[in-house]
Amino acid sequence: QELQLNLEQIEKNNFEHFMLKEIYEQPSAIRDTYRGRLHAEEGIIRMAGVDDNLERFLNAKRILIVACGTSWHAGLVAEYIFEDLARIPVEVEYASEFRYRNPIINSDDVVIAISQSGETADTMAAIKLAKEKGAFVFGVCNVVGSSISRETNAGAYTHAGPEIGVASTKAFTTQITVLTLMALKLAKAKGSISNTDFHMHLQELETIPQKIEVALQENDHIKEVAFKYKDARNCLYLGRGFNFPVALEGALKLKEISYIHAEGYPAAEMKHGPIALIDEEMPVVVIATRKGHYEKVVSNIQEIKSRQGKIIGIVTEGDTSVRDLADYVIEVPDTIESLTPLLTTIPLQLLSYHIAVLLGKNVDQPRNLAKSVTVE
Ligand code: AGP
Repeated sequence: QELQLNLEQIEKNNFEHFMLKEIYEQPSAIRDTYRGRLHAEEGIIRMAGVDDNLERFLNAKRILIVACGTSWHAGLVAEYIFEDLARIPVEVEYASEFRYRNPIINSDDVVIAISQSGETADTMAAIKLAKEKGAFVFGVCNVVGSSISRETNAGAYTHAGPEIGVASTKAFTTQITVLTLMALKLAKAKGSISNTDFHMHLQELETIPQKIEVALQENDHIKEVAFKYKDARNCLYLGRGFNFPVALEGALKLKEISYIHAEGYPAAEMKHGPIALIDEEMPVVVIATRKGHYEKVVSNIQEIKSRQGKIIGIVTEGDTSVRDLADYVIEVPDTIESLTPLLTTIPLQLLSYHIAVLLGKNVDQPRNLAKSVTVE
């Protein structure tokens, strides 16, 4: 028993939980994921699975993304990045819905299946359906030799290392890293991005690991925010653009490890109903990095404030406008808009982690959950 505990402690690298260890592994996991692929100096992205099938991707009328849970959220981020940079239409589908709804799948479709475990039954079924209909299926998995990685026609592994915590963290950010590399590679091949922008994206992507290190330094401050809101009964997460999927992911993290009901929403959608939920008991996490429609997010915050909502702002370091309005702000370093999800996710992971720990929950093995859902 003693030996077992010691072995586990070693495996946790002296972190209290695997989830916290895996949150802190994200800088190295992202470096491992882009190593050998991202050559910022030369302005090259090398991905054999894409290179060998480049015509398929370039001739694709659309890209279908099938996934579940956090991987589905990575797919949503990919939709924004692929359409913005590579100008290829993308549709993101819950694998569990896709497999049963008799979807239209064309032989010139490219399907991207995202799965950390590579064993998710719904995603596997979606892949088989797509292949039956003649589509080309590309896998993004974290487990080498997993069923999905063997079933797909080609693929690219995330090199996040084993993810033990049931709540996915480093898999999410490394999935986004792979998908961003793919989008940039296709954008370059299609000529839908200027050389300057391409190089700028590559150089900025290379700085993300150290920017995550900076974001992680907010941990103690985030613990204080967690203490303040650990007894909330409900929580809203709002984001826009590239950060709308991050709002969904932040809400899922809180739900699955602290059992607090949380919902992610596009910030502008609040006025179409959900703003009726706002009262002084409702913490609202708003991703308000100084990018894109920043001014509109600030006005969304004002609307919530005027209804006594409690605001936790995820802001670009040095922000003052949101700081004046919010009850708490958590800073992340600045980066280009399409890469902000890699940074804004970090405080949301830590916030849900600390709330769950303060509530005494089993963070690494939350109730009713399995790390890989191999049954439907
Ligand atoms: C995320 O924190 C959950 N553990 C869960 O939603 C997970 O993302 C989903 O089951 C998909 O798993 P996969 O990536 O292994 O296919």
